[in-house]
This record gives sequence, C-alpha cells and structure tokens, in this order.
Amino acid sequence: MAGDLRTLVAASVPPRRLEGVRARLAGALSSLPMLLRRTGADPAVVAGMREALSRRDWNALGGALARLRRSHPLDLGTILPASPTPQRLRAAEAIHRQSCAGCHDAPAADVALPASNLFEMARTMPAEEFAARLLNGVRGDTRSAHANPFGDPEIAALIAFYARGR
Ligand code: HEC
Repeated sequence: MAGDLRTLVAASVPPRRLEGVRARLAGALSSLPMLLRRTGADPAVVAGMREALSRRDWNALGGALARLRRSHPLDLGTILPASPTPQRLRAAEAIHRQSCAGCHDAPAADVALPASNLFEMARTMPAEEFAARLLNGVRGDTRSAHANPFGDPEIAALIAFYARGR
C-alpha cells in the first residue's frame, strides 16, 4: 500500500494508471479492517485512512501507513535471507515460464493495472516491497485464477530469481 501511495504521488504516471492504483488502494483499505481484527488490533484507524484517500491527503495516509508498518512489521525472516539452491532457482524459472510470463513479460502500456514486468519490479524497488507485492499479487484474482498457491520457499525462490534479472 505504501508503494502504491508512492505511485499516486509520483509526477509522471498516466491518469488511467493513477485511477487503477487508487482503486487498488481503496480495495486494500476495505480488507484492512479484517486483517487488523485478526491480529487483535483496533480497525478504527482505517476510517481515517479512507477519508484521507478520498480527500487526497497523502501526508495523512502515508503517516497512518507508516504507523501500521511499525506496529505490524512484515516478517520476511524465512523469505529474504534465503540463498536459494540452483534447484530452487530452476523451480522458480519453471513457475515463471508456465504461470507468470504469459501476462507479465509484455505488460500492456495504457491500462489501469498492468501486469508489470516482474524482473523490472525486482530491480527497481526495495526487496521488502517486492516481497510484499509478491505475497499479495500472487494470491491472484478472478483473472489470474491463482489462489495463493505458493509457500514461503517458492516465494523466496521467485524473489531470488527475479532479482537476478534475465
Ligand atoms: C492471467 C494473467 C496473469 C497471470 C498468469 C499472473 N499475473 Fe500477476 N498480475 C496480473 C495483473 C493484471 C496484475 C495487476 C492487477 C493488480 O495489481 O491488481 C497482476 C499483479 C501481480 C503482482 C502485483 C504487482 C503490483 O504492482 O503490486 C505481482 C507481484 C504478480 N502479479 C506476480 C505474479 C506471479 C509471480 C505470477 C505467476 C506465478 C503471476 N503474477 C501470474 C496478471 C497475471
């Protein structure tokens, strides 16, 4: 969500893409109360975040996201430090070729939410953000028909594979 907010604030993003990212943020905010409740936290904070999104108060939204990141840090212990074996990387390459490349290797230019090039993403954003996007993105949607099929070892292998580039 913080990464999407950064896209909203960026100067040179096409209007259609901006709308897509805004809609994705709004969607994320609608499942956030449930996630917070699951951790025993008070979901009341989300109402203020929704208001901030609708009045485009990026400082308020960014501040709330930063507080949530501090109170609910993303534990990537089993995912990021892994130095994957050659077998893992080959497995990730096979996953990419069979299940991801078709959509992600040649993203459509002017769509609201393109299937971004995953090597490019791994190269241009902090590892933590790419991991978070992979954890959320691979969950899939009605278009991708993926239902969170990967465990930490596969996610770790994919991150290492994309980070190496072509
Ligand atoms: C049928 C097409 C399709 C397939 C197959 C597919 N994706 Fe996607 N993916 C998309 C689209 C479209 C989006 C953008 C929609 C969105 O972000 O809500 C997306 C979003 C993502 C995101 C989030 C990107 C972001 O900007 O945050 C990640 C990460 C991702 N996909 C990884 C994968 C991986 C890894 C695979 C293979 C295991 C895969 N996807 C397979 C279409 C696909």
